[in-house]
Amino acid sequence: MSRTPIVVRAVPALRRALDGLRARKATIALVPTMGALHDGHVSLVRLAKRRAAKVVVSIFVNPTQFAPSEDFGSYPRTWKADVAKLAAEAVDLVWNPDVKTMYPDGFATRIVPEGPAAAGLEDRFRPHFFGGVATVVGKLFAQVRPDFAIFGEKDFQQLRVVNRMARDLDFGVRVIGSRTVRERDGLAMSSRNVYLTPEQRRVAPELFHAMKESARRLRAGEPVETAMAAGARLIERAGFALDYLEVRHAETLARIASPEDGPLRVLAAARIGTTRLIDNIAV
Ligand code: PAF
Repeated sequence: MSRTPIVVRAVPALRRALDGLRARKATIALVPTMGALHDGHVSLVRLAKRRAAKVVVSIFVNPTQFAPSEDFGSYPRTWKADVAKLAAEAVDLVWNPDVKTMYPDGFATRIVPEGPAAAGLEDRFRPHFFGGVATVVGKLFAQVRPDFAIFGEKDFQQLRVVNRMARDLDFGVRVIGSRTVRERDGLAMSSRNVYLTPEQRRVAPELFHAMKESARRLRAGEPVETAMAAGARLIERAGFALDYLEVRHAETLARIASPEDGPLRVLAAARIGTTRLIDNIAV
């Protein structure tokens, strides 16, 4: 059933709309997004619908999580298609603030996450990123006051950062991770996949296959170093510039010394042309 969601762009209108949704104590799940929605986002919405009576999706391309050299300006913006997808999923409300609404003149407060945000993975290559994410997600939690918030496992470190922040700052929201949705050839769905040329798109799934090879070797009891080196070789041979391929403790993201130190997660980031792909899998 397709049902056009309410779209709100100002905080007072959001509060009124939420009061309406919360009538009879309905629970609310928030799915934070930057738009350019694909089937991965749709799966987040579906999980949200299973968890709560009402679903709010935020669409906001957050400038504070992009470095000046990154793709904030060119990040895909597909508003009409996004709303059509959310209508098809019978989402109740779309929160679509503009930059001035989220960061009014004089805005001077920032959440600086530590712990999983300083694990030496994404933060090593994008030092601005988790401060921007934590600040905007903190604002979204304060604005929507959801019972549940759904984040994709594809951004695994982000999921851990947001979860820690929600607990540390008593937001009263239960953060839930949703499994990564992949194309048939294994490439994790991402709004940035549209940047790939046909040749890069052909090669892109090799990142996933290399992670699987490292995971297989770890499961077989191979030492961490050789298991990860084998995956790294495959990634580089496929033509990627590798930022990292690491195995970490799946809960804490701490470095591990042996495959017995699990639960384990293999995490990778690599660049192909100008596009940076990240991915991760359980071991
Ligand atoms: O994962 C994303 O799309 C973004 O980082 C998020 C969580 C919506 C914050 O801008």
